[in-house]
Amino acid sequence: MAVREILKMGDARLLRVAQPVPSSLFASGEIEALVADMLDTMKAASGAGIAAPQIGVDLRVVIFGGTGKNPRYPDAPEIPFTVLCNPVIEPLGDEKTSGWEGCLSVPGLRGEVPRFERLRYSGLDQTGTRFERTVDGFHARVVQHECDHLDGILYPQRVEDLTQFGFTDVLFPAVAV
Ligand code: NI
Repeated sequence: MAVREILKMGDARLLRVAQPVPSSLFASGEIEALVADMLDTMKAASGAGIAAPQIGVDLRVVIFGGTGKNPRYPDAPEIPFTVLCNPVIEPLGDEKTSGWEGCLSVPGLRGEVPRFERLRYSGLDQTGTRFERTVDGFHARVVQHECDHLDGILYPQRVEDLTQFGFTDVLFPAVAV
């Protein structure tokens, strides 16, 4: 379909609480086109995931995974390609783990963010089929990061120790920005 412009931090549209996908939209050409544009945009930027608000679409849709080994996250385990609409996240336990995150809306930077280590998430795919998964580690981190976008939250707001926030090429010289 098309590679869309990715909104950058500072754009007020990234701070909105996105609208639920209405039932009439599932299995429509409109949502298929949105998912296709999100996938093209994510792949073009080597993202691990992307949320609809990042391309200016005010809907609770995120996609992630399916890119095989990602040059921006070379040590991360692979995640199956997932389209997740109207997600609900339920943390399993209180344990949080700190890990480095980047964001296509915050180019060139990385920060260390505490996230729940284990969670269950549920939602619908683009056809309106409900599913749920129990995940941990990097998969759980990506889900939390992408779903935060739907509530207008960017990862720098989650960085607790600002000494652990900086430029990717300085922090990790071997990693693609
Ligand atoms: Ni992001």
